[in-house]
Amino acid sequence: GRTLSVAVIRGDGIGPELVESALTVLRAVAQRHGITLDVREEPAGAEHYRRTGRAVDPGALERLATADAVLKGPVGLPDVRHPDGTEAGLLGGVLRTGLDTFANVRPVRLLPGVRGATRHEPGEIDYVLVRENTEGLYASRGAGVVARDAAADQLLVTRTGTRRVVRYAFELARRRAGGGRRARPEVVCVDKSNVLRSFALFRAVFDEVAADYPDVAARHLYADAAAHDLVAHPERFDVLVMENFLGDILSDLAAATVGGLGMCGAANIGDGAAYFEPIHGSAPSLAGRGLANPTSQLLSLALLLEHTGHDPAAAAVRAAVERAYADGAVALTAAGSPATGTASVTAAVLERL
Ligand code: IPM
Ligand code: MN
Repeated sequence: GRTLSVAVIRGDGIGPELVESALTVLRAVAQRHGITLDVREEPAGAEHYRRTGRAVDPGALERLATADAVLKGPVGLPDVRHPDGTEAGLLGGVLRTGLDTFANVRPVRLLPGVRGATRHEPGEIDYVLVRENTEGLYASRGAGVVARDAAADQLLVTRTGTRRVVRYAFELARRRAGGGRRARPEVVCVDKSNVLRSFALFRAVFDEVAADYPDVAARHLYADAAAHDLVAHPERFDVLVMENFLGDILSDLAAATVGGLGMCGAANIGDGAAYFEPIHGSAPSLAGRGLANPTSQLLSLALLLEHTGHDPAAAAVRAAVERAYADGAVALTAAGSPATGTASVTAAVLERL
Protein backbone atom coordinates (compact mmCIF):
# COMPACT_ATOMS: atom_id res chain seq x y z
CA GLY A 1 0.00 0.00 0.00
CA ARG A 2 0.91 3.67 -0.20
CA THR A 3 2.68 5.31 2.71
CA LEU A 4 1.01 8.22 4.44
CA SER A 5 3.28 10.21 6.74
CA VAL A 6 1.39 12.02 9.47
CA ALA A 7 2.94 14.36 12.01
CA VAL A 8 0.92 14.41 15.22
CA ILE A 9 0.56 17.26 17.69
CA ARG A 10 -1.49 16.00 20.62
CA GLY A 11 -1.98 19.46 22.09
CA ASP A 12 -3.29 20.62 25.48
CA GLY A 13 -6.37 20.02 27.60
CA ILE A 14 -8.69 17.59 25.83
CA GLY A 15 -6.29 17.47 22.87
CA PRO A 16 -4.54 14.19 23.75
CA GLU A 17 -7.88 12.36 24.26
CA LEU A 18 -9.25 13.61 20.96
CA VAL A 19 -6.08 12.80 19.04
CA GLU A 20 -5.97 9.30 20.56
CA SER A 21 -9.51 8.73 19.29
CA ALA A 22 -8.56 9.95 15.82
CA LEU A 23 -5.38 7.85 15.73
CA THR A 24 -7.37 4.74 16.65
CA VAL A 25 -9.75 5.40 13.77
CA LEU A 26 -6.85 6.28 11.45
CA ARG A 27 -5.08 2.98 12.16
CA ALA A 28 -8.27 1.02 11.52
CA VAL A 29 -9.17 2.80 8.30
CA ALA A 30 -5.57 2.63 7.03
CA GLN A 31 -5.54 -1.12 7.51
CA ARG A 32 -8.82 -1.56 5.63
CA HIS A 33 -7.68 0.65 2.75
CA GLY A 34 -4.12 -0.63 2.37
CA ILE A 35 -2.50 2.58 3.58
CA THR A 36 0.85 2.21 5.34
CA LEU A 37 1.16 4.75 8.14
CA ASP A 38 4.26 6.62 9.23
CA VAL A 39 3.18 8.52 12.36
CA ARG A 40 5.58 10.94 14.06
CA GLU A 41 4.89 12.88 17.21
CA GLU A 42 5.82 16.54 17.46
CA PRO A 43 5.61 17.90 21.01
CA ALA A 44 4.09 21.39 20.90
CA GLY A 45 1.60 23.67 22.58
CA ALA A 46 1.07 25.63 25.77
CA GLU A 47 2.27 22.92 28.17
CA HIS A 48 5.34 22.46 26.00
CA TYR A 49 5.90 26.22 26.10
CA ARG A 50 5.65 26.23 29.89
CA ARG A 51 8.28 23.48 30.08
CA THR A 52 10.67 24.66 27.38
CA GLY A 53 9.90 28.34 26.70
CA ARG A 54 9.04 27.46 23.10
CA ALA A 55 5.68 26.54 21.53
CA VAL A 56 7.49 24.20 19.12
CA ASP A 57 11.00 22.72 19.06
CA PRO A 58 13.70 23.91 16.67
CA GLY A 59 13.21 22.43 13.22
CA ALA A 60 9.56 21.61 13.96
CA LEU A 61 8.14 23.68 11.10
CA GLU A 62 10.37 21.88 8.59
CA ARG A 63 9.37 18.49 10.01
CA LEU A 64 5.67 19.41 9.90
CA ALA A 65 5.95 20.70 6.34
CA THR A 66 7.77 17.55 5.22
CA ALA A 67 5.04 15.20 6.46
CA ASP A 68 2.18 14.50 4.07
CA ALA A 69 -0.09 16.16 6.63
CA VAL A 70 -0.33 17.15 10.28
CA LEU A 71 -3.03 15.95 12.66
CA LYS A 72 -3.31 18.42 15.50
CA GLY A 73 -5.34 18.58 18.69
CA PRO A 74 -6.44 21.88 20.22
CA VAL A 75 -3.78 23.82 22.12
CA GLY A 76 -3.70 26.55 24.76
CA LEU A 77 -3.99 26.79 28.52
CA PRO A 78 -5.57 29.64 30.48
CA ASP A 79 -2.55 30.12 32.74
CA VAL A 80 0.03 30.13 29.96
CA ARG A 81 -0.28 33.79 29.00
CA HIS A 82 1.76 36.83 28.14
CA PRO A 83 1.57 39.62 30.73
CA ASP A 84 -1.07 41.33 28.54
CA GLY A 85 -3.36 38.30 28.77
CA THR A 86 -2.88 37.00 25.21
CA GLU A 87 -1.97 33.39 24.43
CA ALA A 88 1.66 32.62 25.19
CA GLY A 89 1.76 29.20 23.59
CA LEU A 90 0.94 31.02 20.35
CA LEU A 91 0.88 27.76 18.47
CA GLY A 92 -2.01 28.94 16.30
CA GLY A 93 0.04 31.87 15.11
CA VAL A 94 3.30 29.94 14.93
CA LEU A 95 1.77 27.26 12.73
CA ARG A 96 -0.56 29.36 10.61
CA THR A 97 2.00 31.98 9.70
CA GLY A 98 5.04 29.68 10.05
CA LEU A 99 3.61 27.10 7.65
CA ASP A 100 1.83 29.83 5.64
CA THR A 101 -1.43 27.87 5.70
CA PHE A 102 -3.48 30.69 4.23
CA ALA A 103 -6.86 28.96 3.98
CA ASN A 104 -8.65 27.80 7.12
CA VAL A 105 -11.36 25.59 5.69
CA ARG A 106 -14.29 24.86 8.01
CA PRO A 107 -17.09 22.62 6.72
CA VAL A 108 -20.39 23.08 8.52
CA ARG A 109 -22.80 20.19 8.13
CA LEU A 110 -25.80 19.10 10.17
CA LEU A 111 -25.70 15.32 10.62
CA PRO A 112 -28.79 13.11 10.76
CA GLY A 113 -29.76 12.54 14.38
CA VAL A 114 -28.19 15.77 15.60
CA ARG A 115 -30.17 18.78 16.75
CA GLY A 116 -28.63 22.16 16.05
CA ALA A 117 -29.56 25.44 17.70
CA THR A 118 -31.97 26.25 14.85
CA ARG A 119 -34.97 24.39 13.42
CA HIS A 120 -33.20 23.08 10.34
CA GLU A 121 -33.05 19.54 9.03
CA PRO A 122 -29.98 17.60 7.87
CA GLY A 123 -29.40 18.49 4.23
CA GLU A 124 -30.34 22.10 4.88
CA ILE A 125 -27.03 22.96 6.52
CA ASP A 126 -24.08 21.97 4.36
CA TYR A 127 -21.60 24.70 3.50
CA VAL A 128 -17.93 25.55 3.93
CA LEU A 129 -16.64 28.63 5.65
CA VAL A 130 -13.21 29.63 4.32
CA ARG A 131 -11.34 31.83 6.77
CA GLU A 132 -8.26 33.79 5.66
CA ASN A 133 -5.60 32.49 8.01
CA THR A 134 -2.44 34.58 7.81
CA GLU A 135 -3.47 38.25 7.94
CA GLY A 136 -6.57 40.33 8.73
CA LEU A 137 -6.91 41.53 12.32
CA TYR A 138 -4.82 38.59 13.53
CA ALA A 139 -1.78 40.05 11.74
CA SER A 140 -1.67 42.48 14.66
CA ARG A 141 -1.18 39.62 17.11
CA GLY A 142 1.40 40.74 19.65
CA ALA A 143 2.12 43.89 17.64
CA GLY A 144 -0.66 46.26 18.67
CA VAL A 145 0.04 49.68 20.14
CA VAL A 146 -0.58 49.61 23.87
CA ALA A 147 -0.66 52.55 26.28
CA ARG A 148 -2.05 52.53 29.81
CA ASP A 149 -5.56 53.61 28.89
CA ALA A 150 -5.79 52.76 25.22
CA ALA A 151 -4.75 50.02 22.83
CA ALA A 152 -4.96 49.73 19.06
CA ASP A 153 -4.60 46.87 16.63
CA GLN A 154 -4.44 47.05 12.87
CA LEU A 155 -6.34 44.96 10.38
CA LEU A 156 -4.13 44.09 7.42
CA VAL A 157 -5.59 43.14 4.06
CA THR A 158 -3.20 42.56 1.16
CA ARG A 159 -4.02 41.97 -2.46
CA THR A 160 -1.88 38.82 -2.62
CA GLY A 161 -3.19 37.41 0.66
CA THR A 162 -6.79 38.01 -0.36
CA ARG A 163 -6.37 36.74 -3.88
CA ARG A 164 -5.00 33.36 -2.85
CA VAL A 165 -7.70 32.62 -0.28
CA VAL A 166 -10.52 33.81 -2.54
CA ARG A 167 -9.11 31.66 -5.35
CA TYR A 168 -9.09 28.71 -2.98
CA ALA A 169 -12.78 29.35 -2.19
CA PHE A 170 -13.77 29.41 -5.87
CA GLU A 171 -11.82 26.24 -6.63
CA LEU A 172 -13.49 24.57 -3.66
CA ALA A 173 -16.94 25.64 -4.88
CA ARG A 174 -16.17 24.05 -8.25
CA ARG A 175 -15.05 20.80 -6.62
CA ARG A 176 -18.19 20.66 -4.48
CA ALA A 177 -20.37 21.18 -7.54
CA GLY A 178 -18.45 18.38 -9.28
CA GLY A 179 -19.33 16.17 -6.33
CA GLY A 180 -22.98 16.82 -7.15
CA ARG A 181 -23.61 18.92 -4.09
CA ARG A 182 -25.16 21.94 -5.80
CA ALA A 183 -26.66 22.62 -9.19
CA ARG A 184 -24.82 25.93 -9.30
CA PRO A 185 -21.83 26.53 -7.04
CA GLU A 186 -21.65 29.86 -5.25
CA VAL A 187 -19.12 31.81 -3.21
CA VAL A 188 -20.25 34.53 -0.82
CA CYS A 189 -17.82 37.29 0.15
CA VAL A 190 -18.39 38.33 3.77
CA ASP A 191 -16.99 41.71 4.81
CA LYS A 192 -17.72 45.15 6.29
CA SER A 193 -16.76 47.14 3.23
CA ASN A 194 -19.49 49.63 4.09
CA VAL A 195 -17.42 50.77 7.08
CA LEU A 196 -13.74 49.84 6.71
CA ARG A 197 -11.39 50.44 3.80
CA SER A 198 -9.46 47.24 4.45
CA PHE A 199 -12.66 45.32 3.76
CA ALA A 200 -13.34 47.39 0.65
CA LEU A 201 -10.02 46.09 -0.73
CA PHE A 202 -10.98 42.55 0.27
CA ARG A 203 -14.23 42.92 -1.69
CA ALA A 204 -12.55 44.50 -4.72
CA VAL A 205 -10.06 41.61 -4.93
CA PHE A 206 -12.92 39.13 -4.48
CA ASP A 207 -14.69 40.70 -7.50
CA GLU A 208 -11.53 40.46 -9.60
CA VAL A 209 -11.10 36.78 -8.81
CA ALA A 210 -14.83 36.07 -9.30
CA ALA A 211 -14.53 37.31 -12.89
CA ASP A 212 -12.22 34.35 -13.59
CA TYR A 213 -14.95 31.90 -12.51
CA PRO A 214 -18.00 32.58 -14.68
CA ASP A 215 -19.37 29.12 -13.82
CA VAL A 216 -19.49 29.97 -10.09
CA ALA A 217 -22.02 32.46 -8.76
CA ALA A 218 -20.61 35.25 -6.60
CA ARG A 219 -22.37 37.53 -4.17
CA HIS A 220 -21.60 39.79 -1.21
CA LEU A 221 -22.92 39.94 2.30
CA TYR A 222 -21.99 42.32 5.07
CA ALA A 223 -20.76 40.37 8.07
CA ASP A 224 -23.66 41.35 10.33
CA ALA A 225 -26.18 40.20 7.72
CA ALA A 226 -24.15 37.03 7.25
CA ALA A 227 -24.44 36.29 11.00
CA HIS A 228 -28.20 36.66 10.65
CA ASP A 229 -28.50 34.48 7.56
CA LEU A 230 -26.22 31.72 8.88
CA VAL A 231 -28.82 31.27 11.65
CA ALA A 232 -32.03 32.09 9.78
CA HIS A 233 -31.25 30.75 6.28
CA PRO A 234 -28.26 28.39 6.38
CA GLU A 235 -29.65 26.50 3.37
CA ARG A 236 -28.67 29.48 1.21
CA PHE A 237 -24.94 28.87 1.62
CA ASP A 238 -22.41 26.86 -0.34
CA VAL A 239 -18.96 28.44 0.19
CA LEU A 240 -18.21 31.64 2.12
CA VAL A 241 -14.88 33.44 2.24
CA MET A 242 -13.85 36.09 4.74
CA GLU A 243 -11.16 37.86 6.73
CA ASN A 244 -9.48 36.05 9.64
CA PHE A 245 -11.26 37.59 12.66
CA LEU A 246 -14.70 37.49 11.03
CA GLY A 247 -14.04 33.84 10.21
CA ASP A 248 -13.12 33.10 13.80
CA ILE A 249 -16.40 34.51 15.10
CA LEU A 250 -18.72 33.25 12.40
CA SER A 251 -17.33 29.71 12.50
CA ASP A 252 -18.29 29.34 16.18
CA LEU A 253 -21.73 30.76 15.38
CA ALA A 254 -22.04 28.27 12.52
CA ALA A 255 -20.99 25.40 14.80
CA ALA A 256 -23.89 26.15 17.13
CA THR A 257 -26.30 25.44 14.27
CA VAL A 258 -24.92 21.91 13.78
CA GLY A 259 -24.72 20.71 17.39
CA GLY A 260 -21.85 22.71 18.78
CA LEU A 261 -18.11 23.18 18.57
CA GLY A 262 -17.48 19.47 18.99
CA MET A 263 -19.03 18.80 15.58
CA CYS A 264 -16.66 20.87 13.43
CA GLY A 265 -13.22 20.03 12.09
CA ALA A 266 -10.96 22.23 10.01
CA ALA A 267 -8.23 22.08 7.40
CA ASN A 268 -5.43 24.65 7.43
CA ILE A 269 -4.12 24.63 3.88
CA GLY A 270 -1.01 26.20 2.43
CA ASP A 271 0.99 25.60 -0.73
CA GLY A 272 3.65 23.60 1.12
CA ALA A 273 1.95 22.27 4.27
CA ALA A 274 -1.44 21.39 5.70
CA TYR A 275 -2.70 20.68 9.17
CA PHE A 276 -6.01 19.45 10.47
CA GLU A 277 -7.56 20.37 13.81
CA PRO A 278 -10.89 20.95 15.56
CA ILE A 279 -12.20 24.53 15.36
CA HIS A 280 -12.51 24.69 19.15
CA GLY A 281 -10.09 25.22 22.01
CA SER A 282 -8.56 22.78 24.49
CA ALA A 283 -11.38 22.94 27.10
CA PRO A 284 -9.09 22.38 30.12
CA SER A 285 -12.07 21.91 32.47
CA LEU A 286 -13.08 18.78 30.51
CA ALA A 287 -9.56 17.40 30.18
CA GLY A 288 -8.72 13.89 31.34
CA ARG A 289 -12.33 12.97 32.08
CA GLY A 290 -13.20 11.11 28.91
CA LEU A 291 -16.14 13.42 28.29
CA ALA A 292 -15.05 15.44 25.28
CA ASN A 293 -16.61 14.96 21.86
CA PRO A 294 -13.99 13.58 19.42
CA THR A 295 -16.22 14.20 16.39
CA SER A 296 -14.44 17.45 15.51
CA GLN A 297 -11.11 15.58 15.52
CA LEU A 298 -12.54 12.67 13.52
CA LEU A 299 -13.96 15.01 10.89
CA SER A 300 -10.56 16.74 10.80
CA LEU A 301 -9.04 13.33 10.14
CA ALA A 302 -11.46 12.84 7.24
CA LEU A 303 -10.31 16.19 5.82
CA LEU A 304 -6.68 15.05 6.19
CA LEU A 305 -7.35 11.82 4.32
CA GLU A 306 -9.15 13.69 1.56
CA HIS A 307 -6.36 16.25 1.25
CA THR A 308 -3.70 13.54 0.95
CA GLY A 309 -5.61 11.81 -1.85
CA HIS A 310 -7.15 9.00 0.20
CA ASP A 311 -10.73 9.74 -0.83
CA PRO A 312 -12.22 6.30 -0.11
CA ALA A 313 -10.72 6.28 3.40
CA ALA A 314 -11.95 9.84 3.98
CA ALA A 315 -15.45 8.90 2.83
CA ALA A 316 -15.40 5.82 5.08
CA VAL A 317 -14.56 7.86 8.18
CA ARG A 318 -17.18 10.48 7.35
CA ALA A 319 -19.85 7.88 6.69
CA ALA A 320 -19.03 6.00 9.90
CA VAL A 321 -19.32 9.19 11.96
CA GLU A 322 -22.58 10.04 10.23
CA ARG A 323 -24.06 6.58 10.83
CA ALA A 324 -23.02 6.61 14.48
CA TYR A 325 -25.24 9.66 14.96
CA ALA A 326 -27.98 8.58 12.57
CA ASP A 327 -28.30 5.19 14.35
CA GLY A 328 -28.56 6.92 17.71
CA ALA A 329 -25.38 5.20 18.95
CA VAL A 330 -24.06 8.66 19.81
CA ALA A 331 -26.28 11.27 21.40
CA LEU A 332 -25.23 14.72 22.56
CA THR A 333 -26.04 16.34 25.88
CA ALA A 334 -27.41 19.89 25.94
CA ALA A 335 -23.80 21.03 26.49
CA GLY A 336 -22.73 19.26 23.29
CA SER A 337 -20.79 16.42 24.93
CA PRO A 338 -21.43 12.81 23.92
CA ALA A 339 -23.81 11.40 26.54
CA THR A 340 -21.75 8.23 26.97
CA GLY A 341 -18.26 9.72 26.70
CA THR A 342 -15.35 10.03 24.30
CA ALA A 343 -14.54 6.31 24.07
CA SER A 344 -18.12 5.40 23.17
CA VAL A 345 -17.95 7.68 20.13
CA THR A 346 -14.67 6.13 19.03
CA ALA A 347 -16.14 2.64 19.46
CA ALA A 348 -19.35 3.50 17.58
CA VAL A 349 -17.35 4.90 14.67
CA LEU A 350 -14.94 1.91 14.59
CA GLU A 351 -17.92 -0.49 14.46
CA ARG A 352 -19.26 1.34 11.42
CA LEU A 353 -16.04 1.73 9.41
C1 IPM B 1 -9.67 28.95 16.27
C2 IPM B 1 -9.29 29.28 17.69
C3 IPM B 1 -8.00 30.08 17.73
C4 IPM B 1 -8.22 31.36 16.95
C5 IPM B 1 -7.53 30.37 19.18
C6 IPM B 1 -7.33 29.10 19.96
C7 IPM B 1 -6.30 31.24 19.22
O1 IPM B 1 -10.34 29.95 18.33
O2 IPM B 1 -8.92 28.21 15.61
O3 IPM B 1 -10.71 29.41 15.81
O4 IPM B 1 -8.62 32.39 17.52
O5 IPM B 1 -7.97 31.35 15.76
MN1 MN C 1 -12.06 30.27 17.12
